[in-house]
Amino acid sequence: MKEVIIGGVGKYTPSRKVTNEQLSNMVDTNDEWIRSRTGIQSRYVSSGEDTSNMAARASLDAIKDANISIQDIDLIVVATCTPDMFTPSTACLVQGIIGAENAVAFDIGAACSGFIYGLNVAKSLMITNNYKNAIVVGAENLSKSIDWKDRSTCVLFGDGAGAVVLSISDTKGIGHSFCKSDGTKWDAITIEGNDLDSPFVKDKIIRNSKLKMKGNEVFKFATSTIVKSINKILEDNNLNIEDIDYIIPHQANTRIIDYAAKKLKLPIDKFYINIHEYGNTSAASIPIAISEMHEKKLLKKGNKIILVGFGAGLTYGATLINWAI
Ligand code: ACO
Repeated sequence: MKEVIIGGVGKYTPSRKVTNEQLSNMVDTNDEWIRSRTGIQSRYVSSGEDTSNMAARASLDAIKDANISIQDIDLIVVATCTPDMFTPSTACLVQGIIGAENAVAFDIGAACSGFIYGLNVAKSLMITNNYKNAIVVGAENLSKSIDWKDRSTCVLFGDGAGAVVLSISDTKGIGHSFCKSDGTKWDAITIEGNDLDSPFVKDKIIRNSKLKMKGNEVFKFATSTIVKSINKILEDNNLNIEDIDYIIPHQANTRIIDYAAKKLKLPIDKFYINIHEYGNTSAASIPIAISEMHEKKLLKKGNKIILVGFGAGLTYGATLINWAI
C-alpha cells in the first residue's frame, strides 16, 4: 500500500504588519476588545501582492524544503476563497509563476477548511493517478474582500499562504481524513460574486463582493465541529487522545480553541496557536502553522498530529498526519 507523506513545508506572509492599535484609528474598536474576544494582536496585510503571488512564494519555499525539482511536481492544488480571478484558477497562475510545467493545477473552494479538503483530494489523486509529488497550498488575500468600515469583520482577518509538498513514500504519512459540509447554512459566511444580471434576467440579484459573517452562528458551529472532528479522527485511526503530540486547528478565535481543549480535557499547549500574530488567514492558517512549527523544530519524525478546520460553506474536516521528515 502506497503512503503519502509531507516532504516539505513553506509559507509566505506580506511584510506589512497591522496592529490592533492601527485598526482602532480606522474603525470604532480597541486592542482590548479584539484581544479578549479573539486573541488577535496583529495581522499581515497585502500591499499589492495577490493570492497567486503569495501562494507561489510559499510553494517555492516548500519545494526547497523538500529538496525536489520544480519539474518533479505532478499536481498543484490551491485552496482559497479569495482567488485572483474567477478564471483561470489561482493554481494555474501559480503553475505559470513557478514554471511547474509537468503539473495539473486546480483550485478548491472550501474556505477555512480548504487546506484539509486539499490534502484529502491530492492524496487520493496521487494514489489513483500514480503522481509522485504534489503541492497543496492554502492562500488568501482576504484584505481585498473585507469591508474596512465593518468593525465586526475587518479586525479578524489576515493575508498569507502556506504550502506543503506531498510525496509518495513507504513511510507512514497522511492517515484517515474526513471532510464534511452543511450547505443549508451557506449564508453564515459569504463573499458574493457577480450580480445576476443580463438582458435576459427579469429579477436581477445584486451581490455584495465583501465578506459578511454571522459571527455568533459560526462560533457555535465551530465549537461543536472542532471537538466532533477530532474525536472522529481518533476513532477512524484507532487512536486515543494521549497518542496525539499536537493538534493544529484553524486559527479563527482563541476562544474556540480554549473550548475544544476544555471539552477534550487537554492542556492548551497540545494545540498550536499563532492567531495573535496572523489573525484568521482562512485556508492558509493551518499550513502557515505547520510551516512555523517546522521552522521552530517543534515537529519530530514519528509525531502524530491532527489538523482540524471549519469555515464557510459551512464546511469542516480533519486529518491525521504522521510526521515523516
Ligand atoms: N470592536 C468593538 N466592538 C465590537 C467589534 C469590534 N471590532 N465588533 C463587534 N463589536 C461589538 C458588537 O457591535 C456588539 O455590540 P452590542 O452588544 O452593543 O451590539 C458586541 O461587540 C458583541 O458582538 P458579538 O458579535 O456578539 O461578539 P462575539 O463575542 O460573538 O465575538 C466574533 C464576535 C469574534 C466574530 C465571534 O463570534 C467569532 O469568533 N465567531 C467565529 C468566527 C469564525 O470562526 N470564523 C471562521 C470562518 S471564517 C471563513 O470561513 C472565511
